[in-house]
Amino acid sequence: MTAKITFDNDQKVFHLTNGSISYLFSVEEGETLSHLYFGKAVKAYHGQLKYPRVDRGFSGNLPGSLDRTYSKDTLPREYSSAGEMDYHEPATIVRQKDGSNALNLKFDSYEVKDGKPALKDLPASYTEDDSEAQTLSVNLKDEKSGLIYTLLYTIFSDFDIIARSVLVKNGGQEAVYLEKVASAQVDFVDRDFDVICLPGAHANERHMQRTPVTFGSQAFESRRGSSSHQMNPFIALVDKKTDEYSGDAYGFELVYSGNHSMALETDQLAQTRVLVGINDYNFSWKLEAGDEFQTPEVLLTYSGEGLNKMSQNFHEVIRERVVRSKFKHQKRPILVNNWEATYFDFDEKKLKPIVDEAKNLGIEMFVLDDGWFGHRNDDNSSLGDWKIFEKKFPKGLGHFADYVHDKGLKFGLWFEPEMISYDSDLYREHPDYLMQVPGRAPSPSRNQYILDLTRPEVVDVMYKQVADILANNGIDYVKWDMNRSLSDIYSVSLPADRQGEVYHRYVLGYYDLMGRLVDQFPDILFEGCSGGGGRFDAGVAYYMPQIWASDNTDAVARLAIQYGTSLAYPPSMMTAHVSAVPNHQTGRKTPFETRGAAAMSAVFGYELDLTKLTDEEKAMVKNQIADYNKVRDLVVNGDFYRLKSPTESNQAAWNFVSKDKKEVFVATFAVLAFAQPYLTKTKLKGLDPEKKYKNEETGEVFYGDELMELGIYDPVVHQDYMAKTYLFKAIN
Ligand code: DGJ
Repeated sequence: MTAKITFDNDQKVFHLTNGSISYLFSVEEGETLSHLYFGKAVKAYHGQLKYPRVDRGFSGNLPGSLDRTYSKDTLPREYSSAGEMDYHEPATIVRQKDGSNALNLKFDSYEVKDGKPALKDLPASYTEDDSEAQTLSVNLKDEKSGLIYTLLYTIFSDFDIIARSVLVKNGGQEAVYLEKVASAQVDFVDRDFDVICLPGAHANERHMQRTPVTFGSQAFESRRGSSSHQMNPFIALVDKKTDEYSGDAYGFELVYSGNHSMALETDQLAQTRVLVGINDYNFSWKLEAGDEFQTPEVLLTYSGEGLNKMSQNFHEVIRERVVRSKFKHQKRPILVNNWEATYFDFDEKKLKPIVDEAKNLGIEMFVLDDGWFGHRNDDNSSLGDWKIFEKKFPKGLGHFADYVHDKGLKFGLWFEPEMISYDSDLYREHPDYLMQVPGRAPSPSRNQYILDLTRPEVVDVMYKQVADILANNGIDYVKWDMNRSLSDIYSVSLPADRQGEVYHRYVLGYYDLMGRLVDQFPDILFEGCSGGGGRFDAGVAYYMPQIWASDNTDAVARLAIQYGTSLAYPPSMMTAHVSAVPNHQTGRKTPFETRGAAAMSAVFGYELDLTKLTDEEKAMVKNQIADYNKVRDLVVNGDFYRLKSPTESNQAAWNFVSKDKKEVFVATFAVLAFAQPYLTKTKLKGLDPEKKYKNEETGEVFYGDELMELGIYDPVVHQDYMAKTYLFKAIN
């Protein structure tokens, strides 16, 4: 398939297609862009979808026109603005010198280029070769203000993805204030959708929710300064009958880690508008004459084969063309993290036996979590002071890293570079680095405060501190945490009329800091984290190939979290650990195998005190590692299929299939046990029906179609929280 973008001069229609999907929009009267179609590929467009002309009461018409059948209020739009005869939520609002917010964005020109340009200062999908995609830039101009909106559309040849963003240029003489700039708008006609989103909470992230799209407005947003545990920057619109493997599904995913808004509005004619972009809450960006503003990118996908294909479309593009890290296809080291083993209560002496045991069990990396710096023995101090806590490491951190390396393990380290404690040298020296509104006391959260990353000098200070530790202590891996939401939004470096820029500038500062560090240390594996999965988004994935999916390590709780996360993100991006029981978050006692099966369904590790394991448990760890070794490549690079939803039944199941369809890893889970359980089967997906697959445990052989159509009987076990995994390998 080859991406191709054409403009039909007669009909004035743009057609973006890769032979699998098509996206069509036209230029209508008043030089207004009108959305025509997004869906399965069509060969060409012959005018059949031109929006019918109907006189609608109270939907007015173009200035100077007597044609009452044409209204921007009813026309499906491609990018709307305030101040037009369009009463929906607009894609953009701009406050101008005369106090008005009216724009009239008219089609001016366009350009098609091979490849995909990078977005200034922002993460985005990319191409490695110009032949992989085509990009359309459509310029819309507002004559009075001189503003030029360039709508950017990239269609990929090999992914059913359209990447959209908007570049606003002030070509006028006066400064203006952007009060809202969505990254994309899509208007749908004659659809009766459900909307799927991923709400959650700390330690309870990304639970799939499906509700009807209703008349009026619905919004799925974050106002926390980050993409948040509470509402992920992803939605899908699906037909009522759409399920995992059939029906239309439209996915929208913002490549952004700050405040977002995924908004829907269904109007008087049952037409549904989707707007995706930076949340306009406390957003106002001053654009001086000649300045530009680039919005984040939104990834749009269409699947005519249900939700699973939609997810796979996102998995592919994120894994292949959003993640840049050299580790993206590599087996990630099996780690043990000391957080749930010791919390803050550790020193070198206490950690060494854990390292020894890790070596003994076949674990590949030791990760030192929070508490190794400043004088941090609890969460009240030292954020901002990335210097070794000498009492815990009397001979230096490098000495401890050498110990870990000498055992043949890699060494990982935790940071939280965006934060500051009152009790820190950094605060004592630079109280102004702490983000706060003058004259108001800032709000603590986890006893900590935010560094003002809108200021380049603060980013520099953090860069130097972190880079110094990374360069001098034999660090192989970094866990980058962020343990609170933003508040007290203000920067002393900005004038009053630019305080509405703080939220976005913070994100730009975060990207700058992270970008400089990952570029400087390409051999270090970076893992994102925000109290678990509070910043689990494609923006972070651009810098870090994996993210700690949740602070909740309970295997049963993880089923819904990992299942929901997989709607929008590949398993190669999620990290999951086997932890101790009773579980520290839920108090639940799950079998060791079940904890292993859940964690092996992502990037695998341990988070418990290995020295406290019984001999039997140690043997189980060794077996688990041997099992994971058989599937770890499959989990990172294979195709993922959801089979049973943990939120819809007492069970969960999924399988991974290698690209050549020769290997299949299946994990099934039964939450509660019953005295007389109904017999259930798990039917696999994505196998080659012609291939014969051998069950590596039992030696039994099945055709792919048998495993997919007849399925496997789930085990009947009279115990709660059970799991069963299978590995099948093709023998022909
Ligand atoms: C939150 C993280 O998600 C945990 O894994 C741990 O690193 C703590 N922070 C440390 O403060």
